[in-house]
Amino acid sequence: MEKLVIEGGAKLKGDVYISGAKNAALPIMAATLLTDEECVINNFPMMRDTVTMAKLLESLGKKIKYGKNKITVTSNGKPSHVASYELVSTMRGSFCVLGPLLAKLKKATVSLPGGCVIGVRPVDLHIKGIKALGAKVEIENGYVIATANKLKATHMYLGGVFGSSVLATANIMMAAVFADGETIIEPAACEPEVTDLANFLNKMGAKIKGQGSPRVSITGVKKLKGVTYSIIPDRIEAGTYILAAAITKGTITLHNANLEHLMVLVDKLKEVGVNLESKNNKIKVSPAKEIKPVSITTYPYPGFPTDLQAQFMALMALAEGVSIITDKVYPDRFIHIAELDRMGANIRREGSIAIIEGVKELRGAAVMASDLRASAALIVAGLAARGKTEVHRIYHLERGYVDFDGKLRSLGAKISRVQEK
Ligand code: EPU
Repeated sequence: MEKLVIEGGAKLKGDVYISGAKNAALPIMAATLLTDEECVINNFPMMRDTVTMAKLLESLGKKIKYGKNKITVTSNGKPSHVASYELVSTMRGSFCVLGPLLAKLKKATVSLPGGCVIGVRPVDLHIKGIKALGAKVEIENGYVIATANKLKATHMYLGGVFGSSVLATANIMMAAVFADGETIIEPAACEPEVTDLANFLNKMGAKIKGQGSPRVSITGVKKLKGVTYSIIPDRIEAGTYILAAAITKGTITLHNANLEHLMVLVDKLKEVGVNLESKNNKIKVSPAKEIKPVSITTYPYPGFPTDLQAQFMALMALAEGVSIITDKVYPDRFIHIAELDRMGANIRREGSIAIIEGVKELRGAAVMASDLRASAALIVAGLAARGKTEVHRIYHLERGYVDFDGKLRSLGAKISRVQEK
């Protein structure tokens, strides 16, 4: 196993290229199950989660060829409707093969993903959605077994306790592509990754309207064809580098990034004192004189993304005053607090609220990564901390960031990979 060792204090400087969005790539990869023809996916982020999805697709009848920032997906002639526990349990995103398998093969047997460190994460909305389309659903031995000879279009309410669901919207959109008539999902998730999936499906020949709004309509078609498609830039990766620059008071330029997908971060960082400018898919980040405390609450898009909550908290740990962070998407996504406090932060949690009293400096420490975004937050904090920070269990990080430490090194960070003894 490896750890990351960071010598804090270097201001980030220079240019960084943003990869394709992980959370768009995963459902788009699943959508290739809807055709037997070849699909080429460009701007593909090569990371552990997308490789896990590729393995799952191989077990479901696909052949994957890897190229430079792209994959080509073809049929291997052995379609299967069974998504195994071994693959689904390692990554919840793989549950979005349910919809396409059901639509294409009329049967899907998909392992329930189980819990995860950021919360309970149920799949009731996915099940509710496919049932509304007329599928028969049983749960047996930890697997969802769904069957439907013919799915029927319907108008469905798909809101949950925490609002819309990204992957449930993706699953139902894909399940409904061949259903007779017009399916309407309300409230549909408005995340850019869901829009990207809808655009991919439309390029394949689907008839989807309203993507990006809370009311999405899918009119069934007979068949989908193979396409070449380029995935949108990863807004969470971009946001992470922006926050890393902000905490080190650095000046950096992001390439292949879309600031429109980060409006709320722009707004909040303006209050913090950090300036962001965008032109032609580039974003320039200029530092704040002093970091002002700003409170945020996470919500579904276009609200503040829960996937940047931990990294924003690292920045607020060094703000000149008190800020409050509330997570309304995952009320238990706060494991990073204890680790940030080990680095000298002054943060306490009350339910789904974190109260952060800014401190003058963070101090390097040995810390443990617990999930993908928490790992990123600890590294962001380590970049600004006095002395040496060691981040253990970095395999979480490798699930969802392309070459994070390499890109940071190219921006002048003093960060290295060391084999754990
Ligand atoms: N929820 C339900 N029932 C469901 C599904 C979701 O109650 O059937 C709840 C969840 O427990 C949560 C809320 O609804 O409280 C929203 O969850 P959502 O379904 O939108 O999350 P997801 O689709 O499982 C995706 C991303 C996550 C990201 C969330 C929220 C992928 C592969 N994952 O998960 O990304 O945090 O949307 O934006 O797209 C990450 O990249 O680090 C990550 C965790």
